[in-house]
Amino acid sequence: MADISIREVRKSYGNDEVVHGVNLEIESGEFVVILGPSGCGKSTLLRMIAGLEDISSGEIAIADKVVNALEPRERGCAMVFQNYALYPHMSVADNIGYALKVAGMPKAERAEKVRQVASSVGLEEFLDRRPGALSGGQRQRVAMARAIIREPQVFLFDEPLSNLDAKLRVQMRHEIRRIHNRVRATSVFVTHDQHEGMTLADRMVIMNKGTIDQVGTPEQVYNAPATAYVAGFIGSPAMNFLGGQLSARHGAVMLENGAMLPVDARLAQAMDGQLVQIGVRPEALTLCQPGTGSLTATFEFYEELGSEGLHHLKIEDVPFSVLSETKMRLEEGTEIGVIIPQEALHIFGAETGRRIDTAGTARIGVMA
Ligand SMILES: Nc1ncnc2c1ncn2[C@@H]1O[C@H](COP(=O)(O)OP(=O)(O)O)[C@@H](O)[C@H]1O
Ligand SMILES: [Mg+2]
Repeated sequence: MADISIREVRKSYGNDEVVHGVNLEIESGEFVVILGPSGCGKSTLLRMIAGLEDISSGEIAIADKVVNALEPRERGCAMVFQNYALYPHMSVADNIGYALKVAGMPKAERAEKVRQVASSVGLEEFLDRRPGALSGGQRQRVAMARAIIREPQVFLFDEPLSNLDAKLRVQMRHEIRRIHNRVRATSVFVTHDQHEGMTLADRMVIMNKGTIDQVGTPEQVYNAPATAYVAGFIGSPAMNFLGGQLSARHGAVMLENGAMLPVDARLAQAMDGQLVQIGVRPEALTLCQPGTGSLTATFEFYEELGSEGLHHLKIEDVPFSVLSETKMRLEEGTEIGVIIPQEALHIFGAETGRRIDTAGTARIGVMA
């Protein structure tokens, strides 16, 4: 187990900088998920930790030792990819034990080690099979076992579950978390899937075009997103956004359609006139009679989600959704009220996109 320090790390391909001075501290034994959409630089960052990609500037240290100049094999990292790259002509046992064989470990000792590791990932019945005779999830476990057996200081995962079907993906992420709880190796897991990130992470790192927008626990990132970008990326169905302006006189945000949403008086005072973006999560809202709520919307369409209904509305021309157990299938164009509790408001600077807290200061979030 080792801690990882990433300091002012940049990466350019030619003239194109794709990672812009990233700082991140990962603690020993921690499971950190790097989350962001395709192309934001997740794999590049992970590959720089592994040593598979040069760093253009900055420093990476593993267990307090700067590794910039070290070869991948000298860094004590094991990488688990989306493509498992198992040897098809070898048994599961030989696949798992390959690194130990190369390292010259005697056969009996090796077999015992393989058996132990295989049992920790639930593969003991499959040791004699070839990878071709395994399911996708079982192959993924072989890939995990092959990494675990090397007893790496650090596990690096690059979207290892992306090739699996939805059900298996959920099952495997639980399994990865269980394995982590047992092995407690420092782990960095890259994904574009927020659900995967939320379930696996001790802490999440939300990336946005080569920079980090926020680092925090899944709860922190969901409850207090540091930027409008994070707010829109985390949470499903996605957060609603409305434009407005803080007004000291009203102690509220005045929306573009004239509706008033009360906010903390000190905030309205401190930032009177500030243009803002209001974010509210669909699950924090309640439908009501038109004219009785925080604002009035028109009904667009209803989406059945089983235990709940997703109500698609429009406020002026802005789409707006309300998730609730009370299901209302109304005619398109019907007026309906929406109650927005004050504590459900997330307020972001219209220009900066940064969260504005009650002290009236823009908060960048927990940055290293
Ligand atoms: N070998 C490369 N040469 C040039 N550009 C690259 C290379 N690898 C990645 N990129 C670019 O760097 C950016 C980040 O890529 P990547 O780290 O793979 O993103 P992610 O893993 O988040 O999808 C993208 O714009 C991608 O096109
Ligand atoms: Mg990638």
